[in-house]
Amino acid sequence: MFHAGLPGRLPLLQALLALHTMGRTLGRASPAGGPLEDVVIERYHIPRACPREVQMGDFVRYHYNGTFEDGKKFDSSYDRSSLVAIVVGVGRLITGMDRGLMGMCVNERRRLVVPPHLGYGSIGVAGLIPPDATLYFDVVLLDVWNQADTVQVSVLLRPPLCLRMVQDGDFVRYHYNGTLLNGAPFDSSYSRNQTYDTYIGQGYIIPGMDQGLQGACMGERRRITVPPHLAYGENGTGNKIPGSAVLVFHVHVIDFHNPTDSVGIETLSRPAEPCNETSKLGDFIRYHYNCSLMDGTRLFSSHDYGAPQEATLGANKVIEGLDRGLQGMCVGERRRLVVPPHLAHGESGARGVPGSAVLQFEVELLSREDGLPDGYLFVWHEDPPASLFEDMDLNKDGEVPPEEFSVFIKTQVQEGKGRLLPGQDPEKTIGDMFRNQDRDQDGSITAAELKLKSEEDEERVHEEL
Ligand SMILES: *[C@@H]1O[C@H](CO)[C@@H](O)[C@H](O)[C@H]1NC(C)=O
Ligand SMILES: *[C@@H]1O[C@H](CO)[C@@H](O)[C@H](O)[C@H]1NC(C)=O
Ligand SMILES: *[C@@H]1O[C@H](CO)[C@@H](O)[C@H](O)[C@H]1NC(C)=O
Ligand SMILES: *[C@@H]1O[C@H](CO)[C@@H](O)[C@H](O)[C@H]1NC(C)=O
Ligand SMILES: *[C@@H]1O[C@H](CO)[C@@H](O)[C@H](O)[C@H]1NC(C)=O
Ligand SMILES: *[C@@H]1O[C@H](CO)[C@@H](O)[C@H](O)[C@H]1NC(C)=O
Repeated sequence: MFHAGLPGRLPLLQALLALHTMGRTLGRASPAGGPLEDVVIERYHIPRACPREVQMGDFVRYHYNGTFEDGKKFDSSYDRSSLVAIVVGVGRLITGMDRGLMGMCVNERRRLVVPPHLGYGSIGVAGLIPPDATLYFDVVLLDVWNQADTVQVSVLLRPPLCLRMVQDGDFVRYHYNGTLLNGAPFDSSYSRNQTYDTYIGQGYIIPGMDQGLQGACMGERRRITVPPHLAYGENGTGNKIPGSAVLVFHVHVIDFHNPTDSVGIETLSRPAEPCNETSKLGDFIRYHYNCSLMDGTRLFSSHDYGAPQEATLGANKVIEGLDRGLQGMCVGERRRLVVPPHLAHGESGARGVPGSAVLQFEVELLSREDGLPDGYLFVWHEDPPASLFEDMDLNKDGEVPPEEFSVFIKTQVQEGKGRLLPGQDPEKTIGDMFRNQDRDQDGSITAAELKLKSEEDEERVHEEL
């Protein structure tokens, strides 16, 4: 339960006024020209927007100056540097004040002229208020709410594309500006230069925000107004959030994800011709990509390097989200990928990538070729020639130097009989193959040295058996 305006928290004078109110009967109408019959309200500043007006039973926070007819001040909330926080319209204030606050907007300024019978009557307050005094109050309203209030959400900007909305258990990254109802700022994520990151619906944040972020889309901007019983309660927190304060959050949801999310894949365009083969694990691919945060902040692009990105799918060379999102593509296809952080750079992020950030990629597959099995530099498409060494030994001198070896392998590739490891300079690959075969490292391969990798693998298996 939330208790507002406990007697112990009432400013001295307000307490006195309230006491006086209790046993007093209302004055009757007065003849014209006589004392005022009711409170006179002069609304000298009314804010442009007034989403809510004070009603009976509302909890209000306000500042006031109290003066007599001659302008002499008898009381002011400013002098105590603590504003009035109290339930209005239930007899805790003098009747003049209870009535005079009705219908008031936050940030409105009013002057109330309170006749004696709605103030102190004919008795007054010894030493403070003479009998039959008309009181003048200048009031500015700072806050209004009541126990029945719930979280108010108003969507200020919803992006056109909203594939999924925030729900319990999601991890959300958002920016916010926090103000009190009268516009006084109390906190902002921007001052820390980073998003506020939290799980939703798990009680890590005030209940009002747990509720107020539900259903938001990525990129959405909303205003979330939280009554104190769903925020910091009667005691407030820190030196910026007073007790019993309504909080207003302007929120910009940057991204969110659920730890069970997979890669989001959307095909943007496909080549007109249907493709017979799509990219698969083990393939060597070339692709272009643009990578950005979900709010559009550009991070990386293959176009910056002047050459497409190359990768073997599934070889752990790119983030897991790309390994997955680049599979099943036709050459020429463009996709948009949304990659949750656990398939990207994780909680700690990476250079230029904030922790727990969801990434979006636009990718275009430029080429694809079958990769080679792990550990292979070259494979035959069919059975290798029976007279392999003789074929290699072009000048038939019983030895195969690097030049002969290189010419032979390149010929095989040209004739489509075999292929080299993709994505690496063929000269380097052929050099590596030669060194593997030249077992005694004397600069040429002999018939005894030459072995196919499949034979080697078999030998190794046999050794192990
Ligand atoms: C009360 O008086 C002070 C000092 O003159 C002034 O700054 C303040 O705005 C006044 N408050 C209201 C509600 O008129
Ligand atoms: C805020 O973040 C931006 C972008 O990461 C950075 O360029 C800037 O230096 C940061 N400013 C501060 C005060 O940390
Ligand atoms: C508010 O503060 C008072 C005094 O410190 C404490 O007794 C009370 O439990 C607090 N209320 C809440 C809701 O924390
Ligand atoms: C917070 O305030 C700053 C400065 O006025 C503004 O640029 C930013 O867009 C605001 N953020 C939100 C979420 O309203
Ligand atoms: C796709 O397959 C069809 C039928 O097998 C064949 O005629 C066509 O040439 C193939 N296209 C490509 C690009 O390989
Ligand atoms: C990346 O962005 C540039 C500039 O907007 C664009 O020209 C290019 O097509 C994009 N690349 C991909 C793969 O979407």
